[in-house]
Amino acid sequence: MLPFVRNLIAPSILAADLARLGEEVDLVTPYVDLIHVDVMDGHFVPNLSLGIPVIASLRKTTDLKLDCHLMMQNADRYLPEFREAGADSVTVHIEVYPDPRPVAQAARDVGLEVGIAFNPPTEFSEVEPFVELCDMLLVMSVHPGFGGQAFIDDSLRKVEEARNFVESHDLLTDIEIDGGIGPATIGKAKDAGANVFVAGSSVFGQEDPVAAVLELQRLIESRESR
Ligand code: DX5
Ligand code: ZN
Repeated sequence: MLPFVRNLIAPSILAADLARLGEEVDLVTPYVDLIHVDVMDGHFVPNLSLGIPVIASLRKTTDLKLDCHLMMQNADRYLPEFREAGADSVTVHIEVYPDPRPVAQAARDVGLEVGIAFNPPTEFSEVEPFVELCDMLLVMSVHPGFGGQAFIDDSLRKVEEARNFVESHDLLTDIEIDGGIGPATIGKAKDAGANVFVAGSSVFGQEDPVAAVLELQRLIESRESR
């Protein structure tokens, strides 16, 4: 692995106790680099989650980077609001924006970093033309909409394709994997080339979220030294 690739755990607050969100985030803050925020609209995915007011509240309690995963149809209409609330990056879906160049530019124009996500039925070839315009590629390893689902192994092949593309083009693009990541799956995701690991139920769903994060980090490090 090249030296500039940083491995990051991104706890997803979807699995947190939202009535104690500040406390939950404070617990893991010393041990992680970013917080994953799942925004769902009930249209693109069959579920509703949280949105701009929660991001604004989170921004007051943490300096961590807020990695906002927008599972929604009209993300382009709300980019200034996401930025004002305190989002650092927004990840939009290629299934919503088959040509993501305008939405990516609009996000950059308001000071947001940009990610592009693709779902289990979508091939890497559909995002490949746009890799160079984003900071992060998000490979969905479950069908989006719910936490706690089983990891889909076929996503590893797509992580490998993404990692090969990024390295062969000398890009710094992060490759994030989202869904079903925990002690049983994080090693294979790392081996395939992911370097940002979203973990919801395997962190905030655990009795001791800090111990859970440390264990995930240990598992990544043990792969690095192999
Ligand atoms: C699912 C979301 C995920 C979710 C992951 O649609 O995008 O970020 O929080 O949850 P786990 O880690 O429990 O699979
Ligand atoms: Zn997510």
